[in-house]
Amino acid sequence: MAAPLWGWDEIVSAAGGNAEGSPQRAITGFSIDSRGLAPGEIFVALKDQRDGHAFVTAAFERGASAALVDTGYSRTPADGPLVRVAETLEALSGIARAARARLAEEAGVVAVTGSVGKTSTKEMLRACLSRLGPTHAPEKSFNNHWGVPLTLARMPASTRFGVLEIGMNHAGEITPLSKLARPHVAVVTTVEPVHLGHFASVEAIADAKAEIVAGVEPGGVVVLNRDNPHFERLAAAASAAGVDVVSFGEHASASVRLVKCRLGTDRTEIEAECGNGRIVYRLAAPGRHMAQNSLAVIATLEALGQDFESTIHAMGALADFGAPAGRGAREALAVPGGSILLVDESYNANPASMRAALAALALVPREAYPRRIAVLGDMLELGDRSAELHVSLADAVATAGIDVVLATGPFMKSLFEHIEPARRGIWTESAAGLVDALVATVGPGDAVMVKGSYGSRMGPLVDALRASVAARAE
Ligand SMILES: Nc1ncnc2c1ncn2[C@@H]1O[C@H](COP(=O)(O)OP(=O)(O)OP(=O)(O)O)[C@@H](O)[C@H]1O
Ligand SMILES: [Mg+2]
Repeated sequence: MAAPLWGWDEIVSAAGGNAEGSPQRAITGFSIDSRGLAPGEIFVALKDQRDGHAFVTAAFERGASAALVDTGYSRTPADGPLVRVAETLEALSGIARAARARLAEEAGVVAVTGSVGKTSTKEMLRACLSRLGPTHAPEKSFNNHWGVPLTLARMPASTRFGVLEIGMNHAGEITPLSKLARPHVAVVTTVEPVHLGHFASVEAIADAKAEIVAGVEPGGVVVLNRDNPHFERLAAAASAAGVDVVSFGEHASASVRLVKCRLGTDRTEIEAECGNGRIVYRLAAPGRHMAQNSLAVIATLEALGQDFESTIHAMGALADFGAPAGRGAREALAVPGGSILLVDESYNANPASMRAALAALALVPREAYPRRIAVLGDMLELGDRSAELHVSLADAVATAGIDVVLATGPFMKSLFEHIEPARRGIWTESAAGLVDALVATVGPGDAVMVKGSYGSRMGPLVDALRASVAARAE
């Protein structure tokens, strides 16, 4: 049996709380959602969108080993052991600090931030670093004020490589999370106009991303995108904090430089020059943007002190690395008369990732899929520049040779009205209203890419298309 993740006394002390009882079973992890709790996990009753204290008893019913609760919580007869603390999120952060502190001296911690590509890069790092030693990384995009401490708290003591994703919506949010993670290597994938609603300018976003250097360990490194227009700004912030910079990109002076990039329909062949020599590898996630992310992985491996041979070995993992679910994952759906290529980009959207996804759709050869359909939902949180940033995608739609645009949402209406009439399919107010048109339009020989911000509810359109294909097959 695997060693327990934590001892009870360690938890109580790291949480700065008082124990009431002690668990009869091994502590296997932490959960903040009673519905997804696995037996043996400690339930942490956070006060976030809902108050987790209402679900403590349900968590015990699912097999929680214990629960972390506020001092004011009233126990029910079905409750098991409790740790009572002044504030549960602060207590979880205390456990996170202890988790970070107990890692061995030779362990390497990486924290990834950036406007787009955090999860994609984090998953690439997980795949690559796992070839070199026990690697721990977050579930999904657990990158906020509770996601980062939760990921750290779940990190086994034997972890050789810890990977964190750190996100933000406002200035000042990254600093405390970086200080909690204390990374040896921080990565900023890129800086783009995302969450502009909360910022005065893209420069202000760059400054907020630069906060990641705040927690970097002495002698640590920040990995920056040399091709991004804000590179100098970020590099200056790193240098002011005494953190060394390693860069990646196509730029002639990038430390990890893209030499060749053969973009294929479902994989990219890449040659990159780095400090130790030239690396040739394959990446199963298509698109130039994913190739860029993979350069950040090489830079991270080098910054972690891996030698050339280990770096090459680790990068070999990307030959099997497909785009994550909702972030470009592709599937061929068999229908009478041929197949439909479905590209699921429904998890998120902003101008940078929209352009990247349209460009990646253009890589699909016409011989295999003669028609390209883009199903586009609103990009949210762009503030005053929303309409302008939507309209600005018209060029990308034309360059990618999109034959039909199906659009939904008030902002996408502006783009829809600006694209050439020949490309216009239909526009609807809500995503739900687009289902029938989508199902009626798509047929064999179509490559269909579905993308919009999470709040635009594009995921159900992907499901509806899959369901209609399944029904056609019956
Ligand atoms: N370097 C990149 N440049 C542009 N788009 C990218 C890049 N990397 C990934 N993307 C695209 O951006 C979208 C989001 O990717 P991903 O989930 O990796 O980003 P994220 O930063 O983790 O997002 P979130 O802030 O929602 O956690 C996907 O559509 C993905 O294909
Ligand atoms: Mg993410």
